[in-house]
Amino acid sequence: MAEHLVVEGGTTLEGTIKIQGSKNGALPLLAATLLSDGRCTLSNVPDLKDIRTLLEIMSELGMSVDQRGPNTFSMRVTDETKSTARYELVSQMRASIYVLAPLLAKRGYAKVSLPGGCVIGLRPIDLHLKGLRALGAEIELDHGYVVARAPGGRLKGGRVFLGGPFGSSVGATANTLMAASLADGKSVIEGAACEPEVVELAHFLNRMGATITGIGTPRLVVTGVPSLGGARQSVIPDRIEAGTYMAAAAITGGDVTLEDVRMEHLGAVVDTFEKIGVRIEELDEETIRITRPGPIRPVRVTTLTYPGYPTDIQAQLASLLCLGEGISVVTEKIYPDRFMHLAELNRMGAEVMKEGASAVIKGVKVLKGTDVMASDLRAGAALVLAGLVAEGTTRVHRLYHVDRGYECIEAKLASLGAKIHRVKDAAVTRAA
Ligand code: EPZ
Repeated sequence: MAEHLVVEGGTTLEGTIKIQGSKNGALPLLAATLLSDGRCTLSNVPDLKDIRTLLEIMSELGMSVDQRGPNTFSMRVTDETKSTARYELVSQMRASIYVLAPLLAKRGYAKVSLPGGCVIGLRPIDLHLKGLRALGAEIELDHGYVVARAPGGRLKGGRVFLGGPFGSSVGATANTLMAASLADGKSVIEGAACEPEVVELAHFLNRMGATITGIGTPRLVVTGVPSLGGARQSVIPDRIEAGTYMAAAAITGGDVTLEDVRMEHLGAVVDTFEKIGVRIEELDEETIRITRPGPIRPVRVTTLTYPGYPTDIQAQLASLLCLGEGISVVTEKIYPDRFMHLAELNRMGAEVMKEGASAVIKGVKVLKGTDVMASDLRAGAALVLAGLVAEGTTRVHRLYHVDRGYECIEAKLASLGAKIHRVKDAAVTRAA
């Protein structure tokens, strides 16, 4: 049964929490294990709906997975006869497209349901297909599926530029990198995404025996190898979850310590939060303390590819700026339509207008609790943040979005003093 979160506004968050392993970091690592002939072990994997969906897809593709502890998975391919990822599973999560390249490169054939768009925009996969075609893949779109073949069973090294209209693509870079690792010869990926999650994937592939250089730069050079072996890796801390709890501390004027944080992944976020008056102290290499000594100051910020300000912390920042002392402008350069949270924030008393790909946010003195709806996981998190400071009660519906990316959000916030709990939706009976 569907659930919602009930948040009583007005508490100041205080205490310490640990940041989960990165959702967007774990997903490509899990998919990459399909390339291996050996056993792979991943630790610090967050316990999330999206991870479970990908594991289910991988089980259907012949992967045998043992869970060894709450966040550790050990896996090995035991059956390579199936190469189809079904619509019913792929439609639950776009990142399922990550199985396309490993299946194609290792098994010579892949049939993966087209993931389609979602509420944050159209989300095409043309760059994924461009990357794979550059490596010799023959691809057709057939009844809603991507059907890809490697002539003679092997891909061939090639050269490709992966920059698109909204910058380089994380997913296309990851898929092309995985495919190139097992292709014959050398590949060069120009305009590659530099996000930490891509960097981690490249390191993991190298641990499996791949030869990738230029890691962390927009030019990746891959010398294909005939096979890849087993490897172990710990998933990096989730920079987006960290940014979300930084915003939670800041919006309530609290004093929160976050453990397991990589500051080097949060440069633009720390810079923006400092501009608006949030203090971030590095207590040690992996621990930060967040306080807000004064009012929230307005800011102009634009989301960009890494190392720019991340789109995945845009909605949470918008909630914070709703209470800023002046007018802020938040511009989306990655997903120009990722603004569904604005109408919900306005229902809570915010004064936000959308102008093209920008949100113009006029700070107000108070937000007021009401029923609001999460449109995607980050929009949902933003509404929870608004609920923490709103007068009265906020109920955030469509909680399944939030559960895709945040491990026990209500337990973490409650441990910091928030008044928040999860409730099952009442069954709706309609009159005939
Ligand atoms: C990843 O999505 C993340 N998902 C997203 O996180 C994140 O918002 C996004 O990167 C940007 O940082 C995962 O890692 C699982 P892209 P991805 O390909 O790889 C366009 C969250 O909240 N594009 O880098 O799908 C695309 O439409 C989520 O956790 C093409 O034009 O994003 C977008 O405008 C949501 N053609 C831009 O590029 C393509 O073939 C960047 O998308 C692919 C993408």
